[in-house]
Amino acid sequence: MKSAYLRSAALAAVLVAGGTAAQAESLTLYCAADEAWCQQIKTGFEEKTGITVDMTRKSSGETYAQVRAEAGNPKGDVWWGGTGDPHLQAAQEGLTEEYMSPMRGELHDWAIKQAEAAGNKTIGVYSGALGFGYNKDLLAKNGLPEPKCWEDLTKAEYKGQIQIANPNSSGTAYTTLATMVQLFGEDKGFDYMKALHKNVNQYTKSGSAPIKAAGLGETTIGIVFMHDAVAQTAAGFPIVTVAPCEGTGYEIGSMSIIKGARNPEAAKKFYDWALSAEMQGKAKDVKSFQLPSNKSAAVSELTPDLSTIKLIDYDFAKYGSSEERKRLLSKWDTEVSTLPQ
Ligand code: G6P
Repeated sequence: MKSAYLRSAALAAVLVAGGTAAQAESLTLYCAADEAWCQQIKTGFEEKTGITVDMTRKSSGETYAQVRAEAGNPKGDVWWGGTGDPHLQAAQEGLTEEYMSPMRGELHDWAIKQAEAAGNKTIGVYSGALGFGYNKDLLAKNGLPEPKCWEDLTKAEYKGQIQIANPNSSGTAYTTLATMVQLFGEDKGFDYMKALHKNVNQYTKSGSAPIKAAGLGETTIGIVFMHDAVAQTAAGFPIVTVAPCEGTGYEIGSMSIIKGARNPEAAKKFYDWALSAEMQGKAKDVKSFQLPSNKSAAVSELTPDLSTIKLIDYDFAKYGSSEERKRLLSKWDTEVSTLPQ
């Protein structure tokens, strides 16, 4: 009798606990920046709010493809980080939700401009300039000159020495492609990508992988955002960061709420928190040296100073439009990636 009573009491306890767990708030986060930062954000938000975060890290283009594939039955709530172009494309294609955060007044103009270009379906969370980095020990060992300009990277002496990501999966590599088109004009920009292709030893999936490989001595040069190269130097690797002499493009890392999010309240809480100075100021603790979009967020002294870098007037609306992004990627697929090396 007694044990039957205990059994049913235990069962009741399990049911209550199960019921509570089912009601607990949760958030599904698609994170497109570096793994360490994504982990810090997951833990930080869980500690701050008690909301459980299910986080997946993928590159920018891959996250866009996932959000698009799941549009009929959305699984993600917030897409945080990665370059802004696929966020803009998703906004245009109706894959993300408009949201006016009360935190907007704390942000730099460039973050708000990004929102306005997308009917407030996305917003800027950080910024950073494109460039490249090289392993100075390997460079010396191979007797190579210091590359200073984009043009240098197409010289025959760097054959097999350069890594960059694939622009279909990676926002970093798409930013490179769009930068060359804007810097040199479309024909010459594609000629540049073709000449570069001859020197590339591998197209990686993730944008920052090339400079991590350079840090480990697996390639001499990696084309990446400058802050990713700085992070490798800060981690103790012999990496030198270069701001290319011709000038360069930049990213506005962005955040969007996915249309049909299953946890819209948790999504808004996350969104507001992700725009706070407190959250953004912690990025440097995990060696993420982007420029934060919150004007009051602490900035690391290692963050490349954008005011000293020759930046092009990157046309985010054009290169983030669905038509242009699709067109450039398919042109790169057919005209560049298929060429012999
Ligand atoms: C790195 C950079 C970010 C950038 C991201 C894009 O994580 O630190 O600033 O937004 O790459 O990643 P992807 O893999 O899409 O090039």
